[in-house]
Amino acid sequence: MSSAKIYVTRQLPEAALSLLNGCGELRVWEPDEVIPRDVLLREVQEIDALLCMVTERIDEELLAQAHRLRIVANMAVGYDNVEVPALTRRGIVLTNTPGVLTETTADLVFTLILGCARRIGEAERIVREGRWRSWSPFAFLGRDVHHATLGILGLGRIDMEVAKRAKGFDMRVLYANRGRNREAEEKLGCVPVDFPTLLRESDFVTVLVPLTSDTRHLLSTPQFKLMKPTAFLINAARGPIVDQRALYEALRDGLIAGAALDVTDPEPIPQDDPLLTLDNCLILPHIGSASIATRTRMATLAAENIAAFLSGNRPPTPVNPEVLNQDA
Ligand code: DGY
Repeated sequence: MSSAKIYVTRQLPEAALSLLNGCGELRVWEPDEVIPRDVLLREVQEIDALLCMVTERIDEELLAQAHRLRIVANMAVGYDNVEVPALTRRGIVLTNTPGVLTETTADLVFTLILGCARRIGEAERIVREGRWRSWSPFAFLGRDVHHATLGILGLGRIDMEVAKRAKGFDMRVLYANRGRNREAEEKLGCVPVDFPTLLRESDFVTVLVPLTSDTRHLLSTPQFKLMKPTAFLINAARGPIVDQRALYEALRDGLIAGAALDVTDPEPIPQDDPLLTLDNCLILPHIGSASIATRTRMATLAAENIAAFLSGNRPPTPVNPEVLNQDA
């Protein structure tokens, strides 16, 4: 399919773009900003393949314009920005980028754990704003991470890497998941518990589950009430998994000690969001996978999915493989 038209919604590392260049006619949204919706709706009308980011909504409205579209490669492991059944119904393949960002994201989760426990955001602000007067025995006292209890909601690939890191910090690791993860139990000593027990016993609760209708506001006031007042919540999954208003109240009222968020609802978080007034909430701009090597691997894997598909091969990481099986 050498006449294939490919559209990419963001500038990408050269390795990914040159791979796509060899597969057909490539167009890229050049500005370093999210592609405006009306531009995307126009661009999809003539294309066969779309490489997009989590910032693009791939829904019925868009698909109704995209008469030639055969493959959408989402440059992310999560794909809650895509209406998967709508693609599948039309026989359009969706691919994501699992595996390549696992360790980098686990590093960031651990950064969040350490960052909120040791009040890094607050402390850095004091220095930067010229408000640091002297060393003091009581300044910026935080909580120890070593030997604390980590509670992991879920226990997927990234969580396994988080648990591995926790082991290095002599942490006790609990997990609450639909099924048992024997490997995590045997190799890493993770202990299966139910959701309320995990909330009650953990010093740090991390959540890395996908965003679905079941996990939206999985953490809200009733869950915060179960947590220790000295505990911290870490969210590096998707913003809407945490009820952000309830989190604000829990942090303000001391139901829990702090939170560290790599994701918010919405993104970017509005400047007047009350969470931004709290010192016990560390907030990052969705950078879980943001290392040079990992973003290059993600872009390349997304491009490889398109390249394989357009040359008649099976894309390496399909989300809805049933579409490919239909074609076979
Ligand atoms: C993912 O891969 O789902 C991330 O959240 C995007 O970096």
